[in-house]
Amino acid sequence: MIIQPRTRGFICLTAHPDGALQSVKNQIEYVKSKGAIKNGPKKVLVIGASTGFGLSSRITAAFGSDAATVGVFFEKPASEGKMGTAGWYNSAAFEKEAQEAGLYAKSINGDAFSDDIKKQTIELIKKDLGQIDLVVYSLASPRRTHPKTGVAHSSVLKPIGNSYTNKTVDFHTGVVSDVTIAPVENEEDIPNTVAVMGGEDWKFWMEDLKAAGVLADGVQTVAYSYIGPELTFPIYRNGTIGQAKNDLEATVTVLNDLLKDLNGKSYVSVNKALVTQSSSAIPVVPLYISLLYKVMKAKGTHEGTIEQIQRLFADRLYTENGEVPLDEAGRIRVDDWEMAEDVQAEVDRLWKETTTENLSEISDIAGYRKEFFNLFGFEVDGIDYEKDANENVQVPSIE
Ligand code: NAI
Ligand code: NA
Repeated sequence: MIIQPRTRGFICLTAHPDGALQSVKNQIEYVKSKGAIKNGPKKVLVIGASTGFGLSSRITAAFGSDAATVGVFFEKPASEGKMGTAGWYNSAAFEKEAQEAGLYAKSINGDAFSDDIKKQTIELIKKDLGQIDLVVYSLASPRRTHPKTGVAHSSVLKPIGNSYTNKTVDFHTGVVSDVTIAPVENEEDIPNTVAVMGGEDWKFWMEDLKAAGVLADGVQTVAYSYIGPELTFPIYRNGTIGQAKNDLEATVTVLNDLLKDLNGKSYVSVNKALVTQSSSAIPVVPLYISLLYKVMKAKGTHEGTIEQIQRLFADRLYTENGEVPLDEAGRIRVDDWEMAEDVQAEVDRLWKETTTENLSEISDIAGYRKEFFNLFGFEVDGIDYEKDANENVQVPSIE
């Protein structure tokens, strides 16, 4: 079957397995090109391992320090005549490459928020690995069914207090327009968003893993956060999602306490704004990313998820002297190049000038679009999309 992209807004309904395989291979090559990460992790659990930062974390652990990896994700498998999701194909590709390299890799597909998937994961770790020394928490989801109460929480992306008006772009058409986003009205929106994207589920995972005795002495765990520039504060850091990120960041203290007797450590890493399935759903942010990419590419400081995570492992979590550099609030920062003053000043200047007419010239909207399609295995260099795709691809460890 010939597979073409089919989009609805910021969602792509199709995915290309051969493009996904090539993208995963490209990430692996990048990690290998940077050399081995000394003192890196050996047995790793990645929660949210199939796309974005989580996939890059799994690749960095495996191909940067020969780690055995267990990946948890929620994806749709390929079945008779029906395509799988991008994360399914990424995971199939990852496991294939890991196997060929002689690396242990197994995956669990299901709802990571549930007690049942936590239990299955723990059983697998007990059986195959004994104990793990790194847990990466990289879930991004619009909803969560709470495992204790059964309540289904949905997150919202809204400002708090006042409505927010700014520029936004439809990255398919390149039309720049003003968008006004009304503030939260329903008082449950904030706690619901915190319930989905805050730190509680990360805490539940770590508590269950510890209680089962599968955390090694000196275990580390890291979750991902975002801050970004003032221009997105109303919709991001000071909005509903920002409340969830505050909660996630506050969970670090709770987890440090939990892990103390294991000599374990918990971290939040603030990462750079990047094109992923999650970030493309946030208003205003795609235009900011398009300008940011333009500026950072010109300066030679642009990174994708794999460059970010390779740097997180090599220069933050697993430094040679064992020290993890933190900001004044105790967070790891790999958004340092994004937040550099000269970068932000240039983005600000361009932001004010951006119109539909000059968009393709002053922003990297073309790069944004290409990366968006790349997430689904499309527009990947070296793939012949006129050829039949290898559609019935399975994740080897999942029956
Ligand atoms: P993504 O959408 O690419 O990845 C989400 C992952 O979570 C996928 O593996 C998906 O299968 C998994 N997932 C979602 N719901 C699940 C469920 N119920 N059970 C099991 N797995 C589930 O997202 P991305 O962008 O990589 O986000 C990961 C983290 O990084 C998030 O905390 C996000 O806020 C953060 N971050 C993202 C930035 C960006 O610009 N994209 C910037 C900084 C931080
Ligand atoms: Na992820």
